[in-house]
Amino acid sequence: MVTGGAGFIGANFIRYVLTKTDFTGRIINFDKLTYAGNPENLADIADQYPARYVLEQGDICDPKRVADVLQKYQVDAVAHFAAESHVDRSILGPGEFVRTNIEGTFTLLEAVRDLWKDRKDVLFHHVSTDEVYGSLGQEGYFTETTPYDPRSPYSASKAASDHLVSAYFHTYGLAVTKSNCSNNYGPYHFPEKLIPLMILKLQKGETLPVYGDGKNIRDWLYVEDHAEAIWTVMTKGVLGETYNVGGENEWENLKLVQVLCEKTAVALGRPAQEFLSLIRFVPDRPGHDRRYAIDCSKIKKELGWKPRTEFSQGLEKTVAWYLANPEWVQNVVSGAYKTWLERNYSAR
Ligand code: NAD
Ligand code: DAU
Repeated sequence: MVTGGAGFIGANFIRYVLTKTDFTGRIINFDKLTYAGNPENLADIADQYPARYVLEQGDICDPKRVADVLQKYQVDAVAHFAAESHVDRSILGPGEFVRTNIEGTFTLLEAVRDLWKDRKDVLFHHVSTDEVYGSLGQEGYFTETTPYDPRSPYSASKAASDHLVSAYFHTYGLAVTKSNCSNNYGPYHFPEKLIPLMILKLQKGETLPVYGDGKNIRDWLYVEDHAEAIWTVMTKGVLGETYNVGGENEWENLKLVQVLCEKTAVALGRPAQEFLSLIRFVPDRPGHDRRYAIDCSKIKKELGWKPRTEFSQGLEKTVAWYLANPEWVQNVVSGAYKTWLERNYSAR
């Protein structure tokens, strides 16, 4: 069972497992279909694999619904992606993050503990973020032993869920693995996050809001590489262990936005200068973490995974995907997102 499989990374993960691995079983996509969950992300997969892909709408905070689905399919592995995932939203409304990310993870853990009892041939994989480690200065990297220091309601809720998963390993012997990843980019990324937001604004000729001085740094990884990392941990990882996953690819936000201007200009056959002039510095995100950078040497050395996609090519593929899929974009931005954006960002 994949929770949150209709979201950005979950959908890419399901696509990856069904089309690019030797997995022969069935995947149950358990998703509440919030504003961020879109079954259309896997419409072709549903057609192509009618016996091996099933969507079950449900809330991970609903113990009965979770237990029923686990029982119905006799689920023997959970890849837990479902979460509220957008930092800006967590600043505006932390309650839903506490509910989904903490209470939801707890509900799932209790349900699998009950279903699996003493079974050893099972696995709960928890998908988490590098944001739990806090903020770096100019030097250093996050390793698996970096102390937790979350700064936003989002990262605090993810940190709490990580601790619950570890507690279930140590206290109840539940078979768990965990991964903490840096910023993902690629197709099906909900357009409130930096990269798709900028591509769509460029397409419409709208100004590009860069928070603060634009010097905050993120470590970007192509989403399919993240899917491969999670699959690698689920199939080769050591129970109870955490694996950091990153792109070894640090970018200041402003520089990244400038590169996106150039890539989008080339794709649309327009002069880059026209796009670069759309950049605007806007008030900073409160508590904005300065720098994230992952040391992923553990998963590289112990499990043989490495980031594959070269950033320039990954960005070109991503720009091309958004420009080629206006209907997908229209569908996702015409719903809750637009209303939320209008309500909360009109002041920026
Ligand atoms: P997303 O917001 O695109 O998707 C989240 C999915 O979870 C949606 O399909 C949504 O409908 C579903 N969901 C939300 N609440 C639910 C609930 N109560 N019950 C069932 N389903 C629910 O998120 P994403 O970017 O794909 O992130 C997936 C996971 O990866 C999250 O746990 C996130 O913390 C983690 N992560 C994300 C990134 C990133 O760069 N996006 C990086 C590292 C880790
Ligand atoms: O590091 C992993 C995390 O990456 C994940 O855990 C989160 O789920 C995911 O949303 C992402 O969080 P960020 O806050 O880093 O991503 P976001 O795309 O929102 O912002 C990336 C950077 O760009 C960040 O420094 C804030 C900045 N930004 C963002 C937006 C939306 C801007 O300057 N302008 C914007 O309009």
